[in-house]
Amino acid sequence: MKHSQPLVIGNWKMNPISLLDAKKIFSEIKRSQKKFSGTSVMIAPPAIYLPDLSRINKNTSIQLGVQNINPLPSGAHTGELSLPMVQEFGATFSIIGHSERRGNGETNDEVALKVVSLLKHRITPVVCIGESERDEAGNFFVFIEAQIKSVLSQVPKTRYKDIVFAYEPIWAIGTGKNATIDDIMEMQLFIQKVITKFASRTTANQIKILYGGSVHGGNAGLLFQSGALDGFLVGGASLKPTEFLAIVTATTI
Ligand code: 13P
Repeated sequence: MKHSQPLVIGNWKMNPISLLDAKKIFSEIKRSQKKFSGTSVMIAPPAIYLPDLSRINKNTSIQLGVQNINPLPSGAHTGELSLPMVQEFGATFSIIGHSERRGNGETNDEVALKVVSLLKHRITPVVCIGESERDEAGNFFVFIEAQIKSVLSQVPKTRYKDIVFAYEPIWAIGTGKNATIDDIMEMQLFIQKVITKFASRTTANQIKILYGGSVHGGNAGLLFQSGALDGFLVGGASLKPTEFLAIVTATTI
């Protein structure tokens, strides 16, 4: 059983389509914050909403973050946002290597570079890993191992504990088909084994492992009770406050 404080992260992706709606969703979550004292709640809205949400996020324990970042501080990089920029508006974490970005060409090396830069700025990297499909022979483990190794090989071992890994099998994202408890338990052991090879069992135990992919209020409790997880990375359900809060409640210990 895990003993660390659980995390539930909402990845709003490119939603909602107005600032007004973003504020409504955020305020509704904020109103219920007393209910989730045992769990860290983190929300990654589209970065353009960050300044406004940050302003209404006073006196709460909710953390705001971004869905991607450029690892460089400034310069000629059209359309990009840097760490100091988002940090000024309250970002404390960044999702990195989401499969929807990897699908657009983001490589393991680019993901690793972003993680290194985030750690330097003391912003938590939430690194997404996950296979597109499962094969009988278990070759997908090789794919996942490469995703983890490319990050760990660039980071000093003393900083491993500051990384969060989110196991998000691509086939489970937005499909309504979540990974089973057995799948998740097996993957958690595998991720820990890979980390142990690089560092130690103690370090492996310190790194938080989340699951994402069709998590909702109805399945979060059972998945969390498996004891394999430190929490969830939630897409669609994070835009529905009641559903999102049910997921948070399922992890409150
Ligand atoms: P869904 O919860 O909509 O399946 O999305 C998961 C996800 O991609 C979170 O990053």
